[in-house]
Amino acid sequence: MTMPETVTSALPLLRVRGLSKRYPTGATALSDVNLDVPAGQVLALIGPSGAGKSTLIRCVNRLVEPSSGELSLAGRSLAGLGRRGLREARRQLGMIFQEYALVERLTVMENVLSGRLGYTGFWRSWLRRFSGEDVAQAYAFLERVGLSGYENQRADALSGGQRQRVGIARALMQDPLLLLVDEPTASLDPRTSRHVMRLLCELCRERGLSAIVNIHDVALATRFADRIVGLQKGRIVYDGAPAGLGAAALTAIYGEEDWNAPGTTDAGQTEPPPESVPSVSALPAARPAVSYSRAPAT
Ligand SMILES: Nc1ncnc2c1ncn2[C@@H]1O[C@H](COP(=O)(O)OP(=O)(O)OP(=O)(O)O)[C@@H](O)[C@H]1O
Ligand SMILES: [Mg+2]
Repeated sequence: MTMPETVTSALPLLRVRGLSKRYPTGATALSDVNLDVPAGQVLALIGPSGAGKSTLIRCVNRLVEPSSGELSLAGRSLAGLGRRGLREARRQLGMIFQEYALVERLTVMENVLSGRLGYTGFWRSWLRRFSGEDVAQAYAFLERVGLSGYENQRADALSGGQRQRVGIARALMQDPLLLLVDEPTASLDPRTSRHVMRLLCELCRERGLSAIVNIHDVALATRFADRIVGLQKGRIVYDGAPAGLGAAALTAIYGEEDWNAPGTTDAGQTEPPPESVPSVSALPAARPAVSYSRAPAT
């Protein structure tokens, strides 16, 4: 029997209950966080440095082990997963992190195709034998993010904005349910930041994808996201529509400031990102890059 549509659509894609995280150093990063993210929603997570934004999205993909609380994705608990369960869950989570960077010595196309690593067997991926379908899909995503013609360029020859576009295409190759995005615009100029944020949100809407976008730029968050969640010292102090994020809410999140003064919500650039830890480098970077052409490989 199929579930009535009202019941099905009421189920959140991501459900977070009573999530707390205390690091071994004693820092309490999250305290009793409750959050439901419905399918298709772009949620911007804002808050001052140290508020727990990165910790929250890292708890979702289990890069950080929660101290307590429950997390489930599409009705499936993310707690107590073995290696295999974790691998399957991570396929459904597209990550676009500053430090989850591109593999510098590989081409744009290889970086994008590496989004399929969770689906491709180890030897096939080591031999770089991706299916013709995957290659065609990668071309389509590169075109969509505005990088047609860059397929065989090495990642280390790209600008910051181009790199983020490659990261977005790579995440989409995973065919995820939820995108976890940590400061996508932190090192970009204002115009490029806007283009990247717009692209990200448009793609989510086109594909019915949900996203949690951790971002310092409040103006960008309110312009493009469907919902704003404000964290302060590990607790949610605002959860609502972008339009409701007035001076009172900004004070609750960031502290006292004249929020009505011109430009106060536009500042938002953060410290430069840490140098890359390319966790997708299951492909040995020392091997020469492989060129791809439009004729799909078999
Ligand atoms: N690996 C870690 N070990 C110990 N403490 C940590 C660790 N990572 C984060 N913290 C602490 O947890 C708190 C929340 O950090 P988190 O990085 O989640 O904040 P954030 O909101 O992402 O900040 P930013 O905007 O600067 O990126 C801070 O007090 C931080 O010092
Ligand atoms: Mg952070």
